[in-house]
Order: sequence, then structure tokens, then C-alpha cells
Amino acid sequence: MNQPGDGEAIINLTDLCKAFDGQAVLNRVNLQLMRGETLVVLGRSGTGKSVLLRLLIGLQQPDSGSIQMMGQEITGLPEKGLYEIRKKVGFVFQNSALYDSLTVAENVEFPLKYHGEMTAAQRRERAIEILSQVGMDKAAAKMPTDISGGMKKRVGLARALALDPDLMLYDEPTAGLDPITSGEINELILQLQEERTMSSIVVTHEIHSAEKISDRVAMLNQGSIVFDGTFEELKKSDDAFVSLFVRNG
Ligand SMILES: Nc1ncnc2c1ncn2[C@@H]1O[C@H](COP(=O)(O)OP(=O)(O)OP(=O)(O)O)[C@@H](O)[C@H]1O
Ligand SMILES: [Mg+2]
Repeated sequence: MNQPGDGEAIINLTDLCKAFDGQAVLNRVNLQLMRGETLVVLGRSGTGKSVLLRLLIGLQQPDSGSIQMMGQEITGLPEKGLYEIRKKVGFVFQNSALYDSLTVAENVEFPLKYHGEMTAAQRRERAIEILSQVGMDKAAAKMPTDISGGMKKRVGLARALALDPDLMLYDEPTAGLDPITSGEINELILQLQEERTMSSIVVTHEIHSAEKISDRVAMLNQGSIVFDGTFEELKKSDDAFVSLFVRNG
């Protein structure tokens, strides 16, 4: 496992609030991600984990509070500023969110086309290179509808890595996969951390993933962070909700 950060916060969330239709989803969330660290965010279904990740790249706006990404406040940032932030962030969507009308390789090339200045040949070369890192180069010409859920997750991961990001945000990278494929994805996440000294947030409800890949774990419940510490500390927590989650994990 890579060493936790060098003391610099790459993400700093202060009193973050977000409600939908008068229902608070995030209620004064305070959380930091240090450079080089892998933070796993655990929480039940519907607790706002995906909302939290979407706020980080400006896909949704908070009602109040501050979001500092790589030293820059992004709340209220115009689209151009968000574009610059998104360029540095790899986002692995919960349902892979591949473009069904594009091949696997074209999906990985998409961010390169949108953000980069490569020629078509350079983009293809880069896409194949990253696909081979996730064991998917043989499927480069396939359509997303013709590959399995686990393969889609790998392609989603490759697409997120295309621009060589400083920061990766993974939304449920192993949900819905069999235990072996799930273990392989976790291995891949660990391997990427080691090879690239990236900072990552991995959102999941799977406690085993947290054990395997986290430097630190935060648990979200009813809008707030109810635990923030190492996995070992999580296991020993006497908070009623945390221990219930751990016992049933
Ligand atoms: N655009 C939206 N409009 C209205 N409500 C929303 C919107 N996005 C999210 N919500 C609500 O916010 C709450 C949190 O949703 P979110 O998708 O973040 O949960 P989650 O923790 O990611 O759940 P899961 O583990 O099932 O993925 C849910 O009640 C959801 O219905
Ligand atoms: Mg979610």
C-alpha cells in the first residue's frame, strides 16, 4: 500500500450541505483527502455517496459550504473553471456510464478528444495502452452492449485514467460483481495507486473493499461523517451505527 499523503490536502470539504426537495442529504459534511491517500467512503444505499462525488467535480452544486479541490474553491465556479478541474480528475461512474454508440476504444479516447490535443492516431495508441493495463485491450473494437458488467467497470476505469489524473474518484467500482471479479478490480485499484502515486476516493458499501484498499475510511450516515479513521479503528469503533455496519459487512 502506498504511503498516506505528505500533509497537503488535495480535497477539503467544509460544512457541505445539500438537500433535495427540502430533504437534507448531506448535512455539514467535513472531510479531507490528503495527497497520495486512498480514502474509502462507506455508507448505506441512499446516504448521498454519489451526490458527494458529483459535487466534487461540479456536476451538482451544494446549497452551502466549501469545496476546495487542489487548492481551488470550486463552488460557484463557471463551467470553464470546472473544465480545468475535471481534466485533472478521473471519475469512475457507478454504472460505468459508457457511451453505447461508441466502441470500447472510442470510449477511452473520448476524454482525450474532449480535453486533449492528441492526433487521432495518438489517441488510439494511448487508449490501447490503458486498455491493456486493465486487461481489456482485446475488447477494444467491441461495443459496450457486448461486454459483461465486470468488463464495463474495467473500461470505465480505463476511460477515467486516460488523462493521467492526479485524483481518481470511484463510485462503487465493485458493486454488482462476483467476489472474484470484485477482488480483481480491487487489485487493479491498489496497483494503480502504487504505480502512479494518485490520490483517490473510493465510494462503496462493501466493507471488504475498504479493508483491502483503504489508507483511511470515512463513514457517512444520515448526512454526516460519523467515522473518520483507519480500517483497524473502524473495526474497534463503539459507535452503534458503525459497529452494525461492520458486523453486517
Ligand atoms: N438529482 C436529484 N434529484 C433529487 N434527488 C436526488 C438527486 N440526486 C440524488 N438524489 C437523492 O439523494 C439521495 C442520495 O442519493 P445518492 O445517489 O447519492 O445515494 P448513494 O449513497 O450513492 O446510494 P447507492 O449506494 O444506492 O448508490 C437519495 O435519496 C436520492 O434520491
Ligand atoms: Mg451511489
